[in-house]
Amino acid sequence: MSAVPVIAIDGTAASGKGTIARALAAKFGFDHLDTGALYRTVAALVLRAGGDPASREDALAVIPRFWSSTIPEAELRSAAVGEAASQVAVIAEVRAALFDLQTAFARHPPGGRGAVLDGRDIGTVICPDAPVKIFVTASVEERARRRWRELAALGSAKTHEMLIEEIRIRDARDGGRLAAPMKQAADAVMLDTTDLGIEAAVAAAEAIVRARLG
Ligand code: CDP
Repeated sequence: MSAVPVIAIDGTAASGKGTIARALAAKFGFDHLDTGALYRTVAALVLRAGGDPASREDALAVIPRFWSSTIPEAELRSAAVGEAASQVAVIAEVRAALFDLQTAFARHPPGGRGAVLDGRDIGTVICPDAPVKIFVTASVEERARRRWRELAALGSAKTHEMLIEEIRIRDARDGGRLAAPMKQAADAVMLDTTDLGIEAAVAAAEAIVRARLG
């Protein structure tokens, strides 16, 4: 059992789960952990070392450096690191190395009031007892549009069609892996943000939290 309320947000790539998680944390005065950033950090370290993110050996070799590494935001959020993150995330030992950090945060968040974690396996593996679980998704076309806007602002020349393909591949890898596959927990509420702007999506998520936490 968690000592404080935990909000578990899982969902597909570019579904808006990170934005929703940050907004909920701010509204409720809880601490937020972006667990995707943990896998992205491992991936960035593998790429920096010239390693192969699909290699168990290369991924495990960088774990000792994980604790003392801060990756600049632009590098962490790049498409290359996102893709590599979904490859290192397949490796069970990488997931195991990041497990305790996530459960400790959920039980003892720095502010002590509550925790919001977002990722792929929060409601199923990391915090299966969380009183609030939300699974966020949107159509692949809309998610590719959102990713296109983000990447275009960073100067990327990727087209909408290229991003649709990349997101399809990522969803298939995240949902099809053996170790903690992305899936909606049985007691999670589905939130489809295809036709929702940020404000409406956050309001819908807040209503789910209030209904669950009372
Ligand atoms: O922002 P976006 O949805 O593109 O990705 P992210 O949440 O930063 O996660 C990057 C990758 O890390 C995902 O594609 C997953 O493969 C992996 N991940 C995971 O396996 N488990 C988590 N709890 C969080 C992320």
